[in-house]
Amino acid sequence: MDPGIDDAWALTVICALKRLKGVSTVAGNVPLDNTFGNARRVLGVLGVDNAPVLPGAEGPLMSRLITAKAFHGDKGLGEWEGDIAPVSPHTPRVWSWWDDHAQELTTSHLIATGPLTNLAIGALAFPRLTDTWRSVTCMCGALPGAQVDKAQEFNIYVDPHAADIVFHWVKRLRLIGINVAHRALIPVSDLARLERYGRVGQMLSGMLQFYSERSRGEGGDPGAFPIDDVVAVAAVAEPDLFSWQELPLAVVREGPLRGTVVVSPIDLNRQPVRVAVDVDVHGFREWLWDAMSAFAASASTPL
Ligand code: RIB
Ligand code: CA
Repeated sequence: MDPGIDDAWALTVICALKRLKGVSTVAGNVPLDNTFGNARRVLGVLGVDNAPVLPGAEGPLMSRLITAKAFHGDKGLGEWEGDIAPVSPHTPRVWSWWDDHAQELTTSHLIATGPLTNLAIGALAFPRLTDTWRSVTCMCGALPGAQVDKAQEFNIYVDPHAADIVFHWVKRLRLIGINVAHRALIPVSDLARLERYGRVGQMLSGMLQFYSERSRGEGGDPGAFPIDDVVAVAAVAEPDLFSWQELPLAVVREGPLRGTVVVSPIDLNRQPVRVAVDVDVHGFREWLWDAMSAFAASASTPL
């Protein structure tokens, strides 16, 4: 993940479901130092101190980092400021950790909500990681040919080479593109519900006020905004909320169509990826707030 405000909500929901195995961060919405520090800060507010947090890549494989500070703020979590310690060059990177723990990871699902640089490096450095997780769900791109409201989705645009490597090598892959993520919108008025969840709701409320002001209208509803990374969590927790299609995929890596997901040419001999083609929007919203109710009990502890 590249927290990032919707990443922060996605991490919160995974913790609400008590399903967190560990977190790794990658440069994306903001540089690696910030994504790494932000993941640790969010886990601190959630009271989760027993999950490994590992840094990954400091930038895309073949191009300079493009950030999304306009949506997530200079440090990545809106106006939630604070000093971030730089990642030590001696901190083990996530791909080494994944390889060291590959056996126990066979019972886990991986959810990628940032550029796929870490996963691509892991797949190339340690090929057994291509066949380790029960499933690998990537929030990136869009269903080929789908009608979307953005020419390029951020995660795949930042590192199209990494995405193409992942689509080529990684097994049991699922894709949540903006064709469904920008349907599963959250009405801005729903943010008032966060007041029920104490310090966790207070943390998210400030971030999402910032984010909704900048992303409102994406997906075509001026009174709502997308939370793409939370949709990727729903795809793993409640896959029946989605309808799926199996397609072999490739990624346009250079030029004006950089980051476009296409059906793979037959000679690339790629395995099919499970691509979300539709989502039960009402069911998604119900699932999200039901998961968040886990924090109602902690409502007494303000930030
Ligand atoms: O395009 C949406 C994706 O890009 C989300 O993961 C968001 O956090 C940004 O990383
Ligand atoms: Ca993200």
